[in-house]
Formats: sequence, structure tokens, C-alpha cells
Amino acid sequence: MSNSELLAKREQILGKAQLFYREPVQIVRGQGVLLYDQHDQQYIDMYNNVPCVGHGNPSVVAALQQQMAELNVHSRYLHPGIIDFGKRLLDHHADHLDSIVFSCSGTEAVEVALMTARHATGGQGIICTDATYHGNSTEVGKMSARPVSDPRFRSIPFPQSYRPLAEGVTEDELCQLYLNKVEEAIDDFADKDIPFAGMIVCSILANEGLPDIPAGFMSQAAALVRAAGGVFIADEVQAGYCRSGHWWGYQTSDFQPDIVVMGKPMGNGLPLSAVAANHDLIAAFRSKTGYFNTFASSPMQAAVGMAVLDVIEADNLLENATSIGRYLQTELTKLQPDCDAMAEVRGRGLFIGIEWVNDRERKVADRKGAFDVANRMKQKGFLISNAGALGNVVKIRPPLVFKQEHADLFLSAFAEMLTEIKR
Ligand SMILES: Cc1ncc(COP(=O)(O)O)c(C=O)c1O
Repeated sequence: MSNSELLAKREQILGKAQLFYREPVQIVRGQGVLLYDQHDQQYIDMYNNVPCVGHGNPSVVAALQQQMAELNVHSRYLHPGIIDFGKRLLDHHADHLDSIVFSCSGTEAVEVALMTARHATGGQGIICTDATYHGNSTEVGKMSARPVSDPRFRSIPFPQSYRPLAEGVTEDELCQLYLNKVEEAIDDFADKDIPFAGMIVCSILANEGLPDIPAGFMSQAAALVRAAGGVFIADEVQAGYCRSGHWWGYQTSDFQPDIVVMGKPMGNGLPLSAVAANHDLIAAFRSKTGYFNTFASSPMQAAVGMAVLDVIEADNLLENATSIGRYLQTELTKLQPDCDAMAEVRGRGLFIGIEWVNDRERKVADRKGAFDVANRMKQKGFLISNAGALGNVVKIRPPLVFKQEHADLFLSAFAEMLTEIKR
């Protein structure tokens, strides 16, 4: 079916929803980092973090098939699988995170995290950043409002060094200015008689545009939150599972969250998410909510989740994300002198953001330009996107199995694209 026919049918059946690119792509199959359209045109996937161990990974497919054939029930029976998976996942976390709740989507897990924070503290007030996305349920979606309007949520400017709160200050001073915003939010809840519950951040501020965060902000913000009786939640839905060159994004800026939310890559495509915290927090959440989720904590989630961990560990994908991410960032940085639009090349492991601007001096965000880059790269067979608070960050986030040979193909196509847009 042609793209235009499929698009018309889709809009009729599903309603009009957002699609990537000027001309949408119809993907019919995938293997590793490669995707193919209906004409067998090949694309190198440099966007999708869900298939972290690669599209159609044979070990994951085998585990899924075997478990589906053997047993697939909900969690109100005893089964060792989910216990073993939970334990193995927790072993990758800091020691104090020793209990876990499984869900199916990032949104659901953020809901669990918010409920856990609110039950544990008896508070309601949650601080988030002003350009975040943590999910789309009625409660979680309140944090995506611009500006946030529900009085039980309060947003602070996300910490960054590129468009800082104040120019001409040291990194420490800048960090303090952002910390002041956290304090103001805490005070504001107190003024409004809204008991404080905590703060949630994506550990690498992925949706904000992967900014460089003033050193020390995360750990000092966590300390302020705890001193005010709240808990600090790290959203690892994008940042986790080796993406950042560490197992968890919170390790990149060395802070200790009280609650961690995980999602997207956990099941390589099978809906699987989780919240980890200490035993007391999880026990309190369980006793106060009686939480149950039909498809979560199942033998199926356990088998697939285990298979994903097996591949990550056996194929050294953490090392791969670190070394290939560093290589990509270094090589992209070398292209900056030839292209004024590339104001900053930022990286966290195998996640690169390029700040695309119209005017480097005045830092004018060029959303259209970043969108154009994504479209031009698609024409050349590479799937990337644009994102960030201003939509002007070229977002490069391939599956963890992305290799040097793919990076080299991308880099030469990217350099070619830069020459074309110069003309
Ligand atoms: C940081 C972050 N948290 C949570 C979510 C929500 O996850 P889901 O789409 O699985 O509900 C997203 C989704 O993009 C996300 O980027």
C-alpha cells in the first residue's frame, strides 16, 4: 500500500496523530539497527531506544516464544521468574534500592513513583522541570502543561549551561541559582499549605534537550528535597539501561535517588516498566494501594526482561554505548567549525544532542533547521529526530547495538548533508 493511501486510512481509523518527517516512513521489518520500508529501502535506526538489543533480537524472540508457549498468567500466582528478574535488575542499582514494582509503561511507573512518594511523605507537592515529559495519564500529564497549572505540581527552569539563568557567572554560582529555584518551589508549597512530597527529574534531562547540567545540581537538589521532608525521584525511562554510558543516568551526575522509574528498553519492545525504591517505601505503597496491573509482574515480562539483560551483559553493550557514543560525539564535534548552526554537540553515552541555531552569538534556536536535518538524513537512510525544550536539538539515540561501522556511515552522510545545506 502506498504511503498516501496508508496515511489516509490511518487518519480515518486512528484519527490524526503525530508522525515523524515531512514524508512519513512506512517500516515493514527490522533487524539489529537496520529498518526496511515497503520498497526494501534500508534505514539505519539512530532514534529508537526501545529495541535496545536490536530489532528482532533472536535471543529475546526465543525467550518470548518459549514463555508464551509454556505459561502466560497474571501475577496472583507464585512464580520464580519475576523474583529472579527483579533481583537481577536491582543488583544493577545502588544498594539502597532493594525492592521493585513492575508495570507496563513509563507513564504507569511514574504514577507508581508519585503515589509512592505521596504515601511515604504524606505530602502532595511535586517539583518537576519546566520542559519535561514523564507520561500522558491525567496526573502525570499535568507535568507537561506549559505552564504547569495544578497547584500540587510546580515546575522550575531546567538546569543548563547553554541558555543559563544568568550569564557571566561561574558554574558554582549558576548551580546555586537553579538550586534557589528548588528552594523557592519548596517554600511556595509551604506558603500554599500544600505538604511537600518530592521532586522528579529525568536523570539526563533527555526531553529538555540533554543539556550540560551545572555540576553538583542533582545531588544538592536531592539534599534540599530530603531536608524539606520529600523524596527524590529519578526518571530513568530514557536515561537508563546503559544509554548514558552508565547503567543508570543518575550515575552520570553521581546522585542517589530515593525512587527510580524505568521503562522503554526493558522489554526490547514488550511493554515492561518498573519502579525501584527501598523496601519500606515499596511496602508502604503496596499496603496503601493494593496495586495490581494485569500484564505486569508476569512470567512473560520476567522471561523477556531476563533475555534483554542476558544480551546486554553477554555482548558488553554498556562498553559499546560508552565507546561508540564517545566516538560519535568526538567526530561530530570536529564538524562544528564547518557549520555555524551546530552550536553545541552534547553527549551522554550513546545519546547525542546537537544544539541547532540560527545565530551562534545570540543562540537563536532553529527548530526548522533541526527538523530539516532529520528529514535530509532520512533521505540518506538514517533515522534521527529533533527534540528538546525548543525543538531545535538534533536527537541521535540509536539502539545499544549500534557499531562503529554504522557510526562511520552516518558521519560521512552527515558531513555530506552539511555541504548541501551550505549551498
Ligand atoms: C523521560 C520519560 N519518562 C516517561 C515517559 C513515558 O513513557 P511511556 O510512553 O512508556 O508511557 C517518557 C516517554 O517518552 C519519557 O521520555
